[in-house]
Amino acid sequence: MSERETEKHECLNTALRTLHECFSITMPQMLDIAEKFHEAMLAGLTGRKGPLKMLPSFLSIPTGEESGMFLAVDFGGTNVRVSLIKLLGHGKIRVSKKNSVLLKDPGGSYDYTSSDVTGRELFCFLAAQIAGLVGSGAAVPLGLTFSFPTEMHALDKAVLIGWTKEFKTRMTEGRDINLLLHEALQRHGLHGVKPVAVINDTVGTLLTAAYGDPHADVGSICGTGHNTCYLEPLPPGRHGPMVINIESGNFDGLPVNDFDRELDLQSEKPGGQILEKMVSGRYLGELMRLVVLDLAHQGCLFQRKGGDMPGFLCQTNTFSAEHMSLILSDKTAGFAGTAAWLKGSAGIEAALPELAALHTIASLLTTRSARLVAATWAGVLRHLDPLLKNQHTIAVDGSLYEKMTGFAWRLREAMDEILQDRAGQVTLKSTRDGSGMGAAIAAASEII
Ligand code: BGC
Repeated sequence: MSERETEKHECLNTALRTLHECFSITMPQMLDIAEKFHEAMLAGLTGRKGPLKMLPSFLSIPTGEESGMFLAVDFGGTNVRVSLIKLLGHGKIRVSKKNSVLLKDPGGSYDYTSSDVTGRELFCFLAAQIAGLVGSGAAVPLGLTFSFPTEMHALDKAVLIGWTKEFKTRMTEGRDINLLLHEALQRHGLHGVKPVAVINDTVGTLLTAAYGDPHADVGSICGTGHNTCYLEPLPPGRHGPMVINIESGNFDGLPVNDFDRELDLQSEKPGGQILEKMVSGRYLGELMRLVVLDLAHQGCLFQRKGGDMPGFLCQTNTFSAEHMSLILSDKTAGFAGTAAWLKGSAGIEAALPELAALHTIASLLTTRSARLVAATWAGVLRHLDPLLKNQHTIAVDGSLYEKMTGFAWRLREAMDEILQDRAGQVTLKSTRDGSGMGAAIAAASEII
């Protein structure tokens, strides 16, 4: 090894050690976060100021006997999915027709998340997808899963508080989402399609799991965005239990570092959604880019003698959570898969220590994400059942949980660490497409 290479190697090792300290979440930190999260839940529930909105859903847990045919529209962070769903009772659900379309065309022909588009145009796009699936003569109740914070005035009246996940669509914040949908359906001649329920995606996930599992009382999304809901046994001012959308992505009592601060500053809404920016798929890739760029600036990664900084490191959002997953799943000798991706997308010939460093960074960020989410779930459980006397199922949906290499087991591991000998009381249940199916259950449910 040349003197320069040895120097670079040492620089990289030192930098990785620092990163380790920067991104590790220890067990005492997890317990502290759980406690603070619980306090913030109580503050939100009782109308005190704090980061957690604790939004009512006007729904309780389903009985499992709700039945009938429903149209479910799942408006997520990346796609809109429209499906025709039959609830069969006895906890059984059948999806008979399904269609999914991206909200932003990768080819650049449309982008319904951008400020070039209005809410009216966005809902017109949704109505067109519905017409494409069921045709104009359909007569069916519709449930809408809307994956953003909404103030619920009734099950069919949800006002968008503010966009998250970098959405910028104009003339939508502060509007009644169900009304926008209703008007768009009318314009498309879909007079028989009745939008009767709007729910958050976490609520949909919980409802779907609870349709067949009596222990399900927490629902969470680990995907493009992040959030959790739960069944509140004693909502203030109400007579019975109600599912509460915590909007946990906005939690902020967290150990942030310089990379988090930088990411927050360059985001659409600085100061908001701090937890989400540390854990969710929309932001993890960019966080990784900022870390790698910093190592390159220090001269210990991808800086070639006399060469410029590689272009792909200097542009925002060139790394994605999918890339991180690819890096983490690369079990080939010498990280050949990662090397091929770097060569193909950035023209970089990476050396083995550089490839190994990418693997370490992706692992640090994914582990931190899982541990932060686990700590907030522990906060919810502390509220529901401090001694964990009962069984609980946490229903989870979202691309990060489903697809990110190692994320699901890191979450389980962190939960086991926090809950120790009571960990067996808590089941994590992958509830695939639960967010959408839950809209059908909501449409069939009694309003409370
Ligand atoms: C939204 C939540 C949503 C979560 C997961 C967040 O950005 O504020 O309402 O549940 O993403 O999609």
